[in-house]
Amino acid sequence: MSQQQTPGVRIFDTTLRDGEQAPGISLDVKEKLEIAEQLARLQVDVIEAGFPITSQGDFEGVRAVAGTVGTAGGAPVIAALARCHPDDVSRAADALKPADRSRIHVFLSTSEVHRTAMLHGASEDEIVRQAVDAVRRALTYTDDVEFSPQDATRTDVDFLMRIVDEVVEAGATTVNIPDTVGYAIPHDFGTLIADVVARVGADVAVSVHCHNDLGLAVANSIEAVRNGAQQVEVAVNGIGERAGNCSMEEVVMALATRVDLLGRPTGVNTREIARTSRLVSALTGYPVQFNKAVVGRNAFAHESGIHQHGVLADRLTYEIMRAEDVGVAGAQIVLGKHSGRHAFTRQLESMGYTLAKEEVGRAFARFKELADRKVEISDADLEAIVADEVYATDDDAFELVWTQLSGGTATAPSATVRVRRTADGTEIDEVAIGDGMVDAVCGAIRRAVGIDGTLVTFNVAAVTPGVDALGDVTIQVEVGGQRFTGRGVSTDIVEASARAFLSALNKSVRLRHRAVAATPETP
Ligand code: KIV
Ligand code: ZN
Repeated sequence: MSQQQTPGVRIFDTTLRDGEQAPGISLDVKEKLEIAEQLARLQVDVIEAGFPITSQGDFEGVRAVAGTVGTAGGAPVIAALARCHPDDVSRAADALKPADRSRIHVFLSTSEVHRTAMLHGASEDEIVRQAVDAVRRALTYTDDVEFSPQDATRTDVDFLMRIVDEVVEAGATTVNIPDTVGYAIPHDFGTLIADVVARVGADVAVSVHCHNDLGLAVANSIEAVRNGAQQVEVAVNGIGERAGNCSMEEVVMALATRVDLLGRPTGVNTREIARTSRLVSALTGYPVQFNKAVVGRNAFAHESGIHQHGVLADRLTYEIMRAEDVGVAGAQIVLGKHSGRHAFTRQLESMGYTLAKEEVGRAFARFKELADRKVEISDADLEAIVADEVYATDDDAFELVWTQLSGGTATAPSATVRVRRTADGTEIDEVAIGDGMVDAVCGAIRRAVGIDGTLVTFNVAAVTPGVDALGDVTIQVEVGGQRFTGRGVSTDIVEASARAFLSALNKSVRLRHRAVAATPETP
């Protein structure tokens, strides 16, 4: 297959695969789909949706993304990861079957330390044999096959070049050079990529996949692009193993802002960046640091008088990008108390959301409830409601009916909750005392549902400015050694916390009911 010879850089998004490998993140099928739909709106070129052999849930996630996002007009390529094992490859192919355009991404460790510690000391010849077999096998399912020599940057260069030659000969259409442990330094990495590009020829795309252990993932990726890489692998908000992956928003905006120097734009619709970042943060439970480049709360904020003066006179004094170009600015007031269901649905559609009928019903009820407490509802509020509804699914085991709080600084805080068991409609009331209101309400819910969940992380953010802002609570709860993310929004922080806590417990129930296939180690 001949690769495009445009100067553009392809964006391969691995938020749903490598990003999801970050500690404590576990996205269910519905959440994966929601993120994949947003990645399609962002117009990335490839979505790596998962690693199907690892679990039934991952298989279903890839299949759902392939069957919906992967079949829409102009859809991105949907990719799935596989080790160089026949079963992995066929499982990936099965999961990808519904997609219009699919890619099988096979990987195998090549560095000596990995081969010794993880592959029983497999010889170079053996590694080459397995890689070539896997590429050939993958090509029987799709003409789009990517190969990654894992830990490439700590692999003997001669062996790296040998395996690159062999997989290209076997028919790989993309060769990815992963800096698996974030070991590379830009200048050096650029030289390596230039060598690989010169070697593979025009019909094979060279890709890079940089981890951020030394904070250099974006710099290394840009240096690779300068040296001819055609694809960059990224994750939204830079999430991923350890210090994470190359951040999508940073690399895309660097390529856009310095197109004068690099001449290598991407096809990403940058105006969708902020929304994508918020959605991924909400569904993964990973907050975005205030000073994070491009999408942090302070990325376009000016504090000192001198800076404010400069920006008011001419924003170019202190801004190299326009906030509106990344979708940050101008969350307009869109709806209010008197807006009807039609206006509500139209607004969601104009924002790119298409919800199922029952989801619209639930979201509209939440909107009306909110409109009674908050005069003006913005795009950001609507987004928060929609993301909240992604958590509340029809198969939730429990739903929150109400919470009641008492106590204050002089008396111990106590909370009463009513929870409905959805299977039979039974309502359960429980009360608990806690160190604070949030602790009390979580204690009462824990008793009502009979699940011993421990609150591990707790983040609260205001969706918009103002005292009537929606509070957006994202938490991680540990149940039986496994972490679940929950999210809740409300103008009342304690109620938002209760919703978030219950949504995490509901996920633990759902997982218990799901059959999980054998889980090999992830890369
Ligand atoms: O970091 C890594 O090496 C990977 C590969 C599977 C590409 O994630
Ligand atoms: Zn990786």
